[in-house]
Amino acid sequence: ARRLVVDSDGGIDDAAAVFWLCAQENLRVVAITAVGGSVPAQLAARNLRIVVEAAGRPDIPIYLGLDPSAPAPRTRRPVLIHGHDGLGDVGLGPPRTGPREDETAITVLARELGRGTDLLTLGPLSNVAAAIASGAATCDSRLTFMGGSARAGGNARPWAEANIAHDPGAAAAVLGAAWSSPPLMVGLDVTHKATLTRVELELLDRRRSPAAAFLREPLQVYGRAAGTFCAPGEIPCHDLLAAMVAVDTALVETEILPVAVDTGGSAAWGQTVVDLRELARRRPGGPDDGNASAEGTPVAVALRVHVAEFR
Ligand code: BDR
Ligand code: CA
Repeated sequence: ARRLVVDSDGGIDDAAAVFWLCAQENLRVVAITAVGGSVPAQLAARNLRIVVEAAGRPDIPIYLGLDPSAPAPRTRRPVLIHGHDGLGDVGLGPPRTGPREDETAITVLARELGRGTDLLTLGPLSNVAAAIASGAATCDSRLTFMGGSARAGGNARPWAEANIAHDPGAAAAVLGAAWSSPPLMVGLDVTHKATLTRVELELLDRRRSPAAAFLREPLQVYGRAAGTFCAPGEIPCHDLLAAMVAVDTALVETEILPVAVDTGGSAAWGQTVVDLRELARRRPGGPDDGNASAEGTPVAVALRVHVAEFR
């Protein structure tokens, strides 16, 4: 089975992603590392324990990681998209066991990156940046990350997606690392398209699986705030799409483009600056300007998604 390590900030669409991953054959989720984002890292770790237990996979170890270095208050996204507890405040009981204490998220990530284990991130990139900075990682892994935006604008800030906005410095460090293949970015360009509609939400209402029973109420809470940028009545499930893409990249169409992260104090702070001019340059008869001013490092940016397959 393919090995995958998941880094998550323990929110509601993260829970949907973990449920889905737990149901995949030929996939071994070797560990889930918790990072602060929608909620602090401690709470994210607790939520991830609740989720793996509800998914019938209490054997998957959860490791505690970092809280992102706090951005300026005006840049903070209201945490209430996932409720105060990160899972919609629907009264879920505590997990039976806590996160593992024999290792930290950072040491686990460094080890797994060194081994070439594939990595899926569903939150800010703080843990991954720290693991790479620890020097133990060789970045032979395939990284799929939910975050950023090429053309879709932002959700946490005018041009910044929440996972990047929580820790732009970490995102810049991770994208700038020496990956053997370009990281795959699953950003708002595709997550705002591959939405859940009334049809999928009605299926949840029927609660015919543990995942549907668990997710129904939290997804309703989340949908009230998270659907703002989608077609009326539809809600994004960002991290679920990223999980599906990590397992099967054919769900999206990507272009390898230079990407930089704005880590300055400007209005574009936290933006993934995607050099879309490359697309025009690649077209037959496109401008031959020598590509002299391309900025950023190569990222496989998901620009289109097969929505029907997702649903
Ligand atoms: C991302 O931010 C979090 O709120 C979600 O879980 C997702 O990872 C979407 O911008
Ligand atoms: Ca998340």
